[in-house]
This record gives sequence, structure tokens and C-alpha cells, in this order.
Amino acid sequence: MALLIPWLPVSAGKEAHRIHFVYWFATAIAIAVFSVVVAVLIYSIWKFRAGPDDEEDGPPIHGHTTLEIVWTAIPAVLVTAISIVSAVVLAQNGHAGPDPLLIQVKAQQFAWNFTYPNGKSFGYLEAPAGRSMKLNITSTDVIHSFWVPQLSQKQDAVPGQHNTIVVTPTRIGTYPIICTELCGLGHSIMRSHINVVSPADYAAWVKQGGATTGPPGLAVFQREGCGSCHTFTPAGSTGKVGPDLDDLKAEALRANRGPLASFVHQSIVEPAAYLEPGYPDAMPHIFGQQISAAELNQLVQYLVQGAK
Ligand code: CUA
Repeated sequence: MALLIPWLPVSAGKEAHRIHFVYWFATAIAIAVFSVVVAVLIYSIWKFRAGPDDEEDGPPIHGHTTLEIVWTAIPAVLVTAISIVSAVVLAQNGHAGPDPLLIQVKAQQFAWNFTYPNGKSFGYLEAPAGRSMKLNITSTDVIHSFWVPQLSQKQDAVPGQHNTIVVTPTRIGTYPIICTELCGLGHSIMRSHINVVSPADYAAWVKQGGATTGPPGLAVFQREGCGSCHTFTPAGSTGKVGPDLDDLKAEALRANRGPLASFVHQSIVEPAAYLEPGYPDAMPHIFGQQISAAELNQLVQYLVQGAK
């Protein structure tokens, strides 16, 4: 039965293959031990069952030295084997090889940001199949955790600390990036994705600047992860943590804080200045420092033009 259940996601990377091997190694041992224990139990119930009116005590049984040595030695050997296999896999999975792709990963409430060696940042990961990536992971606010189920490796994003992991995607496809540490209101939607593409496609992506087609404000919107928390139809986002940006005009009227553009600008750099009824002060107060003035204007224009 243990073999029939698909416990693990499809493995899309070298490290995941090794981790899955450890899982199956330990599971196979568990299946063997469980089978022996249950077989002995069932046999004993059948063979030594007391008769209906048998109320006698069972015979007093003292130790059986050989049996005790055997049932101590076998688990000791098995547990040692599991720890050796785990230690080898842990060491191999920490090794990035001679030419890893170095990516700076920044987590913040509630979005991921990935910076490539050429200095460009994106809200998602583009990865060449077959090449190791070394992720240097940090956080700007609280503790988050980086996880792609199909790549198995998991690492915390801690403010003021740089944690690394190595992932070597080998299977072309798109996989979710999930925050796996409870980090606040938007934790459950703090997601992005990794596109694993052929080395040629990756080279083409780098060459054309990894650009998102569309207005410049859209690139800022995506990179800063606005869509994780906000619904905005022009960007195709459906976040529900913060107010719906399709309704910006009605919200600006309620807020009564001057023209739409200045209301939007203020709401980004000073989110608590006006809180839409029903929404807490959950938006990070860092975007004013984090986004350059020019890009902030692009973002404001994009939102103003896209609002219904
Ligand atoms: Cu970030 Cu949960």
C-alpha cells in the first residue's frame, strides 16, 4: 500500500532526486519493519488466543538474551544506515559545482524578488535546465521560507542573514515557488513561479533583457509582487489581501485625498495614510525607499490608467 500512494511531487531537479532516494530508502526500511511486526502480531493472535473460559494467568516469561540482542542490533544498523545516506545526500546537495548561476533572493511581505548576476530583478525565476543555481536568500521584514516542491530544497529567508541553497533544475516546466513559513496576512498567497527552460531559451531570455512586454509600470508591478495582494485586471492579478485596484477611482473618492494619481502615489509610499475600510495596515511601508522615483511614477501611471 505504501508503494501505491504518490507521496512525493514529480522530481524536477538533481537535489530532489537524491532527497526522494532518502525518502524511499527510509520508507522501504519502515515497510520491512512494519511487515515483520504486524506478521508476528497476527500470528500470535491466531496461534496463542486464550479459550473463552480461560481466566488463568499466562506463564511467567523471563528475558531471552539472543532475541534482545537481535532486536537491538537490527534497528541500530538500520538507523545508522539512514543517517549515513542522509549525511551523504546533504553534503552532495550543498555542492554547487564549478559554475553555478548566482541569484539574490529577497523575500518580503508578501512577494519574492530575484536578482540576476547582470543586476536585473524579477518577481519570478527563469532557470536554465541542467545548470546549478546558488540562491542567496534574505528577507527585508519577517521570516519567510523558500520552497519549490518539485525541487525539494527548502531554505528560510531571515532578515539580516544570507542563507544559501543549491538547486539544479533538470526538467523543463513551470513550478510554483511557495512561502512555507507563516509570515502574516498574505502568507498563503505569497507565491511565485520558476520557469525551467532549455539553455538556449534561457540565453535568449537573458539577451532580450528578460523584459515583460507591456507598459513599464507593469514590470514594476510584477517585480514588486503587487499582484500577490491586489487584484488588478490589466496585470491579470487576483490577490485578495489588499484592496481591489480595479476600484481605485471609487476608493479615491471615499478617501477624498485629491487627484487620483497623488492618492495612488501616497498609498504606495505611505500605506497607512488612508486605509480602505475593512483592510488592516498590512502593506509594507518600504516601497517609498525600495522603488526609484522614476519607476514609482511609471507604477502610478500604470495603476491610474488601468483603474476602471
Ligand atoms: Cu512569506 Cu509566508
